[in-house]
Amino acid sequence: DFDLPENPASTVKPRLETPCDLAYPILSRPPRSSPAFQRPSQLLTFSYTPSRTLEFTDSALRYFASPPRNADLGYAYDRWIRRPEERGRLDGLLHAWTRVKRDMKREHEAAASKTSWKAPDVGVVSWRGVMTKILTAPYEERDGWELNVMTLGGTMYFEEHLSEDRLREKNDMEPRHRLQSYYGYAFESYCTSSDPNQRQDSESDATGWSGDVDTNVQWCSVAKTKLGDTRLIIGGEVDCVRGKYSGGTDNFVELKTSLAIRGAHDEAKFEKKLLKFYFQSFLLGVPEIFVGFRKPSGHLTTTQSFQTIQIPRLVRGKPGAWDPLICLDWGSKFLSFLQDTVKSGSQRDVWRLKFVPKVGVTAVVLDEIGVRDVEAGEDRVGFLPRWYWDDHVG
Ligand code: A3P
Ligand code: MG
Ligand code: MG
Repeated sequence: DFDLPENPASTVKPRLETPCDLAYPILSRPPRSSPAFQRPSQLLTFSYTPSRTLEFTDSALRYFASPPRNADLGYAYDRWIRRPEERGRLDGLLHAWTRVKRDMKREHEAAASKTSWKAPDVGVVSWRGVMTKILTAPYEERDGWELNVMTLGGTMYFEEHLSEDRLREKNDMEPRHRLQSYYGYAFESYCTSSDPNQRQDSESDATGWSGDVDTNVQWCSVAKTKLGDTRLIIGGEVDCVRGKYSGGTDNFVELKTSLAIRGAHDEAKFEKKLLKFYFQSFLLGVPEIFVGFRKPSGHLTTTQSFQTIQIPRLVRGKPGAWDPLICLDWGSKFLSFLQDTVKSGSQRDVWRLKFVPKVGVTAVVLDEIGVRDVEAGEDRVGFLPRWYWDDHVG
């Protein structure tokens, strides 16, 4: 039972004088109405190269290819080029968003419109992973998270906050977890090809292997959408497309691995996982999730394709059931709470949001030491790169 104590503020004490808590929703009470979520529309794509350079090309785009039966997901583990865990900086997304606005402005000017150009009224700029955490928080029972939030001209910017300890922990992953995480990337190699017309086997002794895993390389999509009245700009990685790339999200595919389901308990666990799969894909308008089930040994057993929008219906009434409307309702309350909280004060303020499962959210303004910690000796104002700050505040 997830019901809250009568007064959540007494369990999470804000360090500020102003009341700024947001209580965890009561799951047994589905919302009477929930905010609309606008279908995401893609604004632009970009790629990270093997040297982790961002370029506005589709060089990292991969095409779907059926994986071989019984594929060994532990293959070439020792050749994995692993991108180190870093702070969830927004820089790449800010570059992309700046480019989108530049193009919009040019178009506006080319149309010789009499009105002067005005940047669109955007409420939030965030990576997709952060928005997924926010929206799925009502059902999160274990893992808390923290965000840094800044607001410039009415737009909120979110950055996941990872403490030094947490970063170290992620980088020194236990060998077993590290291998399990590799299985997911190996699955991507077996399921993709850089050529839309053929399954090119790389020079390797594993059938269907399209090349060794380099987690620096990513293809990303930036989309605009709307939750309730708040416009969101969201960026995230897209694993591959099915068939030719049309320039839209219609044939995007999210690849996932999961342990093979052997009983009712496993099934309920998988249904819970589907909540994260669902929102992760939903936020970028990815219509298909292709799941590879594997043995504990890392060998692929079966695969199954899910239509993203069908997933809520699939889990309804099941043991691991969840209701996406609870998430959307919570998400919109979370955004209004934040908007109300951060609107006071200066644009230089950095807010620290803390989510504690089954309790709720607190927000505090960081002091000077906290802000310095966020800047990490880099050329930034808070977590925003100086060039972006100068463009907006200048
Ligand atoms: P699986 O999710 O198939 O296991 P994504 O699915 O988002 O495209 O991510 C690709 C892979 O990155 C995941 O594949 C998983 O192996 C790894 N990964 C993603 N998030 C992770 C996390 N928080 N911890 C460890 N590995 C993670
Ligand atoms: Mg991915
Ligand atoms: Mg994936």
